[in-house]
Amino acid sequence: MKMFLVAGARPNFMKIAPIYREAKNYGAIDCRIVHTGQHYDYEMSQAFFKDLALPEPDYFLNAGSGSHAVQTARIMTSFEELCQKESPELIVVVGDVNSTLACSIVAKKLMIKVAHVEAGLRSFDMSMPEEINRMVTDSISDYFFVTEESGVENLVREGKPKDRIHFVGHVMIDNLFHQLGEIENDGRRIKSSTSSLKEKYSEYAFLTMHRPANVDSRDCFEEIAGALNIISQDRPIFFPVHPRTQKMIREHGIKLSDNIIQLPPLPFSDSLYLWKDAAIVLTDSGGLQEETTALKVRCLTLRDNTERPITVQIGSNIIAGTKKGSILSAYKSSMQADPDTFSVPPKWDGKASSRILDILADSTGKA
Ligand code: UD1
Repeated sequence: MKMFLVAGARPNFMKIAPIYREAKNYGAIDCRIVHTGQHYDYEMSQAFFKDLALPEPDYFLNAGSGSHAVQTARIMTSFEELCQKESPELIVVVGDVNSTLACSIVAKKLMIKVAHVEAGLRSFDMSMPEEINRMVTDSISDYFFVTEESGVENLVREGKPKDRIHFVGHVMIDNLFHQLGEIENDGRRIKSSTSSLKEKYSEYAFLTMHRPANVDSRDCFEEIAGALNIISQDRPIFFPVHPRTQKMIREHGIKLSDNIIQLPPLPFSDSLYLWKDAAIVLTDSGGLQEETTALKVRCLTLRDNTERPITVQIGSNIIAGTKKGSILSAYKSSMQADPDTFSVPPKWDGKASSRILDILADSTGKA
């Protein structure tokens, strides 16, 4: 079976890596990587392929940046051409970025089966482009691979057939455990600038922030920055800066304290090497809410909601909002919490990819 594994943006690469690795154990599956080119800077793309030991993509679509419509349309046009030429039987899409949406629509209209990994998550916040991407992708997928029980509940409520919904755990956590092992086996993977930073500061916080709702609006960014500047008086904050955020810091003239140490976007291993031992992680990313939960690291989510409620119910995550006061009070509660009391969600055990591949190998042709 010819299977296309689709990735486009940074948070996709760590999800396809374990699926690709696992697919090699299935002789009947011819797994090919399609990179849409949604992210293209070396640090946002190639550095990840290298770090995650992914091979060069079999197909690169070179879509690049643009408005949502322009970017989505570019991906759709090139992916349609590719599918018509190569006739895959199945495409696997991950997450909720524009590439996920664009490629599922194209495949479905060409009668190619679509498997959605990380299906069913809902923030119920339609101002997030990712929520629209998730909902549209789920409305046309043939296989739903779900990371947490809320995903199953959402899909059932939306009328999806139960026999197509598979609660398999999380490929992101498969990757996390794999990469932790790699770091332990071979410390040389970590850049010397990253190791020296960690050596210099015994205690620190770790921050990532890139959501348009947080950084595109000056008022919102200034409000968050106000809280971060205060937190950084307790301990330095390491802050790898996303290109969108970098641009907005410049445009809005955001003032960040010298205790917030700005870094370029980091490879997966370097980022993990830093955050796994952080006193606390502050983030607006989806994936980091889950990864911190898996390793029982305190996490504050700089948003008003999450599509990953399990991380709050049993994990280390607190929804901190985006107001200075709410972030500071969430910070205080989080620092008082004992990480030993946090739990790890069911099936976040590093085996999600093999569950997915078993199901696909078993049921292709029957869906
Ligand atoms: C995208 C995803 C988001 C994900 C994020 C992770 C969508 C709708 N959004 O958001 O869900 O959390 O990736 O990074 O798919 N840019 C560069 N170099 C790059 C890529 C982007 O400089 O390699 C700059 C460009 O100015 C671009 C901007 O970043 O316009 C935003 O990139 P884009 O892919 O549109 O969205 P992200 O904010 O990265």
